[in-house]
Amino acid sequence: MQPTTVKQGVKGHYYRKLAETYGTPALLIDCRMVRHQYLLLKSALPDVHLYYAIKALPHPKVIEVLAALGAGFEIASSGEINLLHRARIAPRTTIHTHPIKRDPDIRQALRFGCTTFVIDNTEELLKFIPYKHRVGLLLRLSFQSSDAVVDLSRKFGCCPDDAPGLIHLAARLGIHIKGLTFHAGSQCTNPSMHVHAINVCNQIIRQSRGLGAAPMSMLDIGGGFPVAYDSRIPDIETFTAPIRQALNQLPPNVRVAAEPGRFLVAPAGTAMMSIIGKAWRNDRLWYYLDDGIYGLFSGQVFDHARYPMEIFSTSPKVYPSVLAGPTCDSIDVIVEDVMLPELEIGEIVIGRQMGAYTAASATSFNSLPPAKVVVIDSRQTRSLETGRADIAGQTQN
Ligand SMILES: Cc1ncc(COP(=O)(O)O)c(C=O)c1O
Repeated sequence: MQPTTVKQGVKGHYYRKLAETYGTPALLIDCRMVRHQYLLLKSALPDVHLYYAIKALPHPKVIEVLAALGAGFEIASSGEINLLHRARIAPRTTIHTHPIKRDPDIRQALRFGCTTFVIDNTEELLKFIPYKHRVGLLLRLSFQSSDAVVDLSRKFGCCPDDAPGLIHLAARLGIHIKGLTFHAGSQCTNPSMHVHAINVCNQIIRQSRGLGAAPMSMLDIGGGFPVAYDSRIPDIETFTAPIRQALNQLPPNVRVAAEPGRFLVAPAGTAMMSIIGKAWRNDRLWYYLDDGIYGLFSGQVFDHARYPMEIFSTSPKVYPSVLAGPTCDSIDVIVEDVMLPELEIGEIVIGRQMGAYTAASATSFNSLPPAKVVVIDSRQTRSLETGRADIAGQTQN
């Protein structure tokens, strides 16, 4: 994992004004950046239908922006369905990808109008017998990449060797497996596992014709498209070049989908905190911020991310420093052993690239109020101040 860097920022005045207007802690979401990221990925994968993985940042405005651009939505829970329902998203543009579901989850998704589901084992396949005339299933395969920061194939996905057996069983049960899916892991540092997975899926799709199944018509290549935190990663055009090549080898009737989360929203999010306390401890200057590991920086734990940080002091003298969060727990430290100029209580500290898997996984430990989510648009800066629970849809204006 990369160490956290803390840079000298240049837009102190801008953030101080935003902090005066909206208060801190806040997660600023720039919808222009969401649009930009969507269009970048769309141009890198022009023939791939993109379903936004709303778990990354389940915010109504982000959903609205992406829906207007023609995105579909990847959902994995009843709460996420409710969010899309409230946003009036057309159900036919959604896919339900959780490989493990209860019957009421399946029924709720069907009531909503979602008809594409994911399975990866026999028990899950059998759950669809009562709904077999209403659904098309994707079979999830497991491809564990050592080059992904977050592994998503340990817990889900069947081994490729087991796929023919499941496809054959589904055909015998009269359940339509319309395609395959995989997730090569989140924040993949190179595309080799995507390419390998596409090639293996290509073979299985071609073989499936001999297993008594109807021809497969869909391949969902998951997410995993990386963003630059502190380490260098290839730009998306370079990252996707070998993926495009591998996709070109698929049978022509196969429609390709992807479920990007991080790539669409991480660069759109900026965390804005204030220093609320400061103390010398063991020859280091400790700064206490109004948000930390239990809040927006929960991604340091759950998502293994390290976010580029910025401060706005011009003081030339630097000291060994620590940036810590506001809770009573000692784990609540964002970065230690970093040389910083002396900062004062009330100064602003910024975290970059913080749109994905940050507010989405924040807790309310110590009953501290969650960071507000402030949506910034090109035409206007307006606040949709939402609490953490509200992020799941009850936006207050
Ligand atoms: C099924 C599924 N699809 C898509 C995503 C989004 O992945 P990423 O943020 O790497 O694009 C995830 C992330 O957990 C996932 O589990």
